[in-house]
Amino acid sequence: MAWWETSSFRFVNGVLHLGASPAAALVRRHGTPLYVYGRTRIAENYRTIAAAFEGRTASEVRICYAMKANPHPRILGLLRAEGAWIDAVSPGEVRAARAAGFPARKILFTGTSLGEEDFREAFAVDGLTVNIDAAEQIELMARVRDRHFTGKRIRVAVRWNPGIGRGFNPKVITAGERSSDGTPIKFGVEDRKVLAAFRKAADCGFEPVGFHQHLGSGWVREDYPDVLEAVDKMIAKAGELESAGFRLEFLDFGGGFGPRYAREQTLFPLARYAAAICGRIRRAGLRPPAIAVEPGKSLVADAGALLLRVEYVKESYGNIFACVNGGTFNTLPRSAIYAHPHHEIVNAGAAAGDPVVSDRKKIRVTVAGHICETGDVFGREVLMPRPEAGDILVVLGAGAYGRSMASNFNLRPIPPEILV
Ligand SMILES: Cc1ncc(COP(=O)(O)O)c(C=O)c1O
Repeated sequence: MAWWETSSFRFVNGVLHLGASPAAALVRRHGTPLYVYGRTRIAENYRTIAAAFEGRTASEVRICYAMKANPHPRILGLLRAEGAWIDAVSPGEVRAARAAGFPARKILFTGTSLGEEDFREAFAVDGLTVNIDAAEQIELMARVRDRHFTGKRIRVAVRWNPGIGRGFNPKVITAGERSSDGTPIKFGVEDRKVLAAFRKAADCGFEPVGFHQHLGSGWVREDYPDVLEAVDKMIAKAGELESAGFRLEFLDFGGGFGPRYAREQTLFPLARYAAAICGRIRRAGLRPPAIAVEPGKSLVADAGALLLRVEYVKESYGNIFACVNGGTFNTLPRSAIYAHPHHEIVNAGAAAGDPVVSDRKKIRVTVAGHICETGDVFGREVLMPRPEAGDILVVLGAGAYGRSMASNFNLRPIPPEILV
């Protein structure tokens, strides 16, 4: 069994199946490029996170799906049925979550650089919780409420920046003073301003109910000590807020736990993390009615695959290219934005005819896309059964921040998506 095989994507008698169908059958029916998501795997991922917290706390555990990872309506529906809550980052996401049946009370709206129109739309949604990213926003929020929703009770939380961030790439480290490449970090309220932000929100007539942090994305095992330090800081800060008279309904530790993208990746110890959060909250004497986490990637990344067709195989200066009908800049932008994160790529054989390719000789192939950029490469020198024109290449780990980041760059269409 290959390391990446799951209940949704696996070989059956040497033929790659997505759900119950061979890859070739899906391609004959739906064409390429095509995003395919495995229902069973998404549900399993949700249950793994729920099980990590199970029996460890008297608080309600809210698993808030960071829907920016993949807002497909049927994925939202599936996770709603599992019991998920929602982390939404824009009015558009709030709308999509509500359309998928999430009640407003199960949505935390955590925006950044929000303006008057954003608050106006958010405040119109009864029961929504609005997460404050900057103390400097509170007066604008009060003005919008007073102008359009006089006297309305609006639930708010405060997102703080605990001064520690972790993530797989400088672009997704979301706490600390600066990211690992020196970029100043824009998110959250800095430590020394948190209590004042809570007081200001309350003085302006908002109802502060939650305290939130999100450190970054794509954690592996090596991130655990720093992540734990940030958990300790957050719990200590929550204690200070309680002592100052704020009754916190929930503590939200954000998302970030990485799915497995590569064989050699060391996995973030999710169960230990859940036990540590619950144990530390208990030992600190805090009794929040709810504890929240906001997984995105870990719910959907390994449940998604991008199917591409090899248009031709080219040799140039000793390099062998499988030239495919999708691009990293448009079809799977995370590959371009984060400078070649690993995505396992499997040759599923010909769409027409016998798809068993295991008897072909394995060679090193660079999988290049159809965009006019040198960086448009899905995988460099990937070892795979020698590709031929018409083969289907399956890019794994494509369920999160794949289709949701896709664009029409080069005026290429955005691929369709199916669930299996
Ligand atoms: C506020 C917030 N919560 C949760 C997440 C989800 O992170 P991940 O997909 O790494 O779990 C993000 C990702 O950007 C985020 O900004």
